[in-house]
Amino acid sequence: MPDCLLALESSCDETAAAICTLRGELIASRISSQIEIHRQYGGVVPEVASRNHILHARPLVQQVLADAGKTLGDMAAFAATSGPGLVSSLLIGTSMAKALAIAEDKPFIAVNHMEGHLLSPFMGENGPVRPCVALIVSGGHTMLVRVHGVGRYELLGRTRDDAAGEAFDKVAKMIGLPYPGGPEIDKLAARGNPEAFAFPRSFLDGRSLEFSFSGLKTAVLYELPRLDLKNEQVLADLCASVQAAIIEVLVEKLLLAAKQCGEKTLAVSGGVSCNRGLRAALAARSAKAGLQLLLARPDLCTDNAGMIAFAASQRFSTGHTSPLEADVDPNLSL
Ligand code: KG4
Ligand code: ZN
Repeated sequence: MPDCLLALESSCDETAAAICTLRGELIASRISSQIEIHRQYGGVVPEVASRNHILHARPLVQQVLADAGKTLGDMAAFAATSGPGLVSSLLIGTSMAKALAIAEDKPFIAVNHMEGHLLSPFMGENGPVRPCVALIVSGGHTMLVRVHGVGRYELLGRTRDDAAGEAFDKVAKMIGLPYPGGPEIDKLAARGNPEAFAFPRSFLDGRSLEFSFSGLKTAVLYELPRLDLKNEQVLADLCASVQAAIIEVLVEKLLLAAKQCGEKTLAVSGGVSCNRGLRAALAARSAKAGLQLLLARPDLCTDNAGMIAFAASQRFSTGHTSPLEADVDPNLSL
C-alpha cells in the first residue's frame, strides 16, 4: 500500500528531491546546490540553472528512494514546485514529477514554493499546522501572512521593493562579499558592533505591515567612500549594523502583526530565517511577549524539497491533487 509521496524542488538554483510519509514525516531529503556554479556570475543565470537541474534531478530521485528504502511503487503521489520561480527551472521539476505520476499511474500535486516555506516551521515535532502569524523571509519575498489553516492564508503585508534576502545579497555585493551574501554577512556580523552605524529602519508608518529595504541599500552606498573595508573590524561592524537594521524591522513588524491579529503563535521561515542574529532576536522578543515561536529547522530554511513534500502531504490529506495540464507560473501568489 503506497504510504509516501515524492517531491521535487527546482524553482531557482537548487535541485532537490525528498520523500515524506502521507502524514508529513520527512524520511529522505537531498539537495544538489549550484551555488558554486553561479557564484562566478554574482547571481543565478536561468539557463545555466535549468541545464543543471536536468543533470541532477534523476540521480537525486534515485538517491532519496535508496535513502528511504522505498521504490516508486511505494509513492501515493508525485509533487513538484510549480511557482513562483524561474520558468525554465520550474519546468524541469514539474515535468519530471508529471512523468513519474504518469508512469506510476498516481496523482500529481503542484506546490506553491511559498506555501512550502510557510508551512516548514510546522514540520517534525512542531506540528500540526495551526493558526498563526507567519513571516516568510527569502531571497525573493518578504511577507507577513495570517494562517487560518492549511490552504487558508491571508496576506497581511509584504515588501514594497527589495526582499530581506535581496537586501542582504545586494549589500554583500556592494562590499565585495561572494554570492549569496546573506550567510557571509551573518558570519562577519558575529564579530561586529551592531551600533557602529545607524542605518535607517523603514517602519513606514507605525501601524503598517509593509516593508521597504531599498533605503538601507542606498544608505550603505553613501557610507562606503568613507570606509576602509580592508580593515576587518570596519567590515564586521558594517555587516553587524546592516544586519541589525534588517532584523529590527522584521521582528517588530512580526510582533505588531501578531498583536493586531490577537494571535499567540509565530512561524518564521525562508532562507533569511537561517540568520543567527534574527533567530536570537526572535527568541528573545517572543519570550518577552509571551508568544510561541516556531522556526523552520536551519536545513529547511533555504530552498529544499522536504518543505515541498510536507506542503504536498498537507494538501493531499485534504483530497487535493492537480491536473497534469497544470502549468508553471513564475509569479504564482500564495
Ligand atoms: O529561501 P531561499 O533559499 O530562496 C528563495 O526562495 O529566495 O532564500 C535565499 C536567501 C538569499 O537571499 C540568502 O542570502 C538568504 O536567503 N540567506 C541568509 C542566510 N542564509 C541564507 N540571509 C541572512 N543570513 C543567513 N544566514
Ligand atoms: Zn525559497
